[in-house]
Amino acid sequence: MRKQTVFSVVVMVAMLLLAACSDSGDGKVIVATDAAYAPFEFLKDGKMTGFDIELLEAVMKEAGVEYEVKNTGWEPLFTSLNNKEVQAGISAITINDKRLKTYDFSDPYFESVNMILTKEDSEITSAKDLEGKNVGVQNGTTGQEALEKLFGKNNSNIKKYKSNVLAIQSLMNGEVEAVVADNGVVQEYVKNNPDKKVKSVEDKTNFESEFYGIIFPKKSEHVDDVNKGLKKVIESGKYAEIYKKWFGEEPDVEVLKK
Ligand code: ARG
Repeated sequence: MRKQTVFSVVVMVAMLLLAACSDSGDGKVIVATDAAYAPFEFLKDGKMTGFDIELLEAVMKEAGVEYEVKNTGWEPLFTSLNNKEVQAGISAITINDKRLKTYDFSDPYFESVNMILTKEDSEITSAKDLEGKNVGVQNGTTGQEALEKLFGKNNSNIKKYKSNVLAIQSLMNGEVEAVVADNGVVQEYVKNNPDKKVKSVEDKTNFESEFYGIIFPKKSEHVDDVNKGLKKVIESGKYAEIYKKWFGEEPDVEVLKK
């Protein structure tokens, strides 16, 4: 009798402990990012910040979803989604047909287009001018896709880097003559680095308009809540507030509704 009581108490305590431990870890949605893409996601004094990070915070608050951002890097973001190590991703990720085959996306939250970053004295004025020149791009991005469409898939002039920061570094080293990345990122770099003597070159004919979305594994239970949260954040004006903080101008929210 006594032994049995002791045994049941031990079992109960063990079960309670187990429940407590799994609750603290399991409840949170882990959102992966590649925090090397300012002004969308980057590290400042060791902390993750940027437009995406602040938008996510506002959206998750409205959605009532507890979450945690994990800086996985770009390609691991996708593999971590595949392995179920993370439950979502935010990283200036373009919604496109190829990705839609494997993943679900939230509604679009930002319009973007690829752009060229090059030296101030460069004669490059369009994407066509990149032909025959070494061009850097982050591996697995829509920038890489756009360049491959123009110059062929196995073109050895297309230099692929693990991060956009490394691609830009290779422009500074002279390894490449230009970098192709999202306009927001290229313009931010030009603005913040007057000493680097670089400029941005747009090409609206060869680079198509794209929309960013929050990415999820297929059939994720979180998509609906996140979309509702995003809608509220846009309607309340919180979206515009965050946008103005990072881009210094009013957003065109109508373009997101199409
Ligand atoms: N928008 C582009 C894409 O989806 C580039 C995104 C890169 N994002 C990043 N955090 N490195 O392919």
